[in-house]
Amino acid sequence: MQPRRRQVRSFVRRAGRTTAAQSRALHDLWPVYGIEPPGRPLDLDVLFGRSAPRVCEVGFGNGEALATLAHARRDVDFLGIEVHEPGIGHLLLAIEKTDLSNIRIARQDAVEVIAEWLPAASLDRLHLYFPDPWPKKRHHKRRIVQPAFLDLVARALKPGGILHMATDWGPYAERMLEVAGGSAAFRNVAGPGAYAPRPPERPETRFERRGRRLGHEVRDLLFQRLPC
Ligand SMILES: C[S@@+](CC[C@H](N)C(=O)[O-])C[C@H]1O[C@@H](n2cnc3c(N)ncnc32)[C@H](O)[C@@H]1O
Repeated sequence: MQPRRRQVRSFVRRAGRTTAAQSRALHDLWPVYGIEPPGRPLDLDVLFGRSAPRVCEVGFGNGEALATLAHARRDVDFLGIEVHEPGIGHLLLAIEKTDLSNIRIARQDAVEVIAEWLPAASLDRLHLYFPDPWPKKRHHKRRIVQPAFLDLVARALKPGGILHMATDWGPYAERMLEVAGGSAAFRNVAGPGAYAPRPPERPETRFERRGRRLGHEVRDLLFQRLPC
């Protein structure tokens, strides 16, 4: 049997400091809002206890955008995916503070969650805001936006569903345009080769503020899943 090739991941697990409040939230609230590896595709209606439009955010960081959108749209269910524990703790505290019942969290590599946990055509939108840019050439293979990743996203989105990406790293924005624009599964909503105007409903994120402070230009990209 061929040895399984080690997958290149788009993250490194950073230790980070978890505050006492975040640790308490992880202990008390994870059992309510966290999803343990299911071993088979999730039944999202059972998970959320209802049938509703579904949005997934990959790499939500401290969960600011996710919590803001979930607060504004209580009629929509939000699945957040993140591997950074303090960020998950931060989001759990926001969920508690504003009494949100429409968020569930996966603490796992998003590639695995999208490929193995999500049923086909189960999402209305997928948000990827300010993914790690991995600027060095030798690290480009770690960038999450790759043709194989977009194939997974295409499978998980409903026909007509939207992939919304944003980044403050110019060369990564160009690569996103190239990869998503080259996929037969997607249509660039802004037109071929074009960036989208920033949708006013997209909340500002921590990494976006950091990028702006550094003088980086922020780009939004909207791609629609075409019918098969
Ligand atoms: C640069 S930060 C951006 C965070 C947030 N979206 C923002 O704009 O503030 C990227 C985040 O993606 C997470 N991440 C990267 N690859 C991931 C993966 N494969 N699965 C889950 N999370 C991932 C990292 O842990 C990190 O918190």
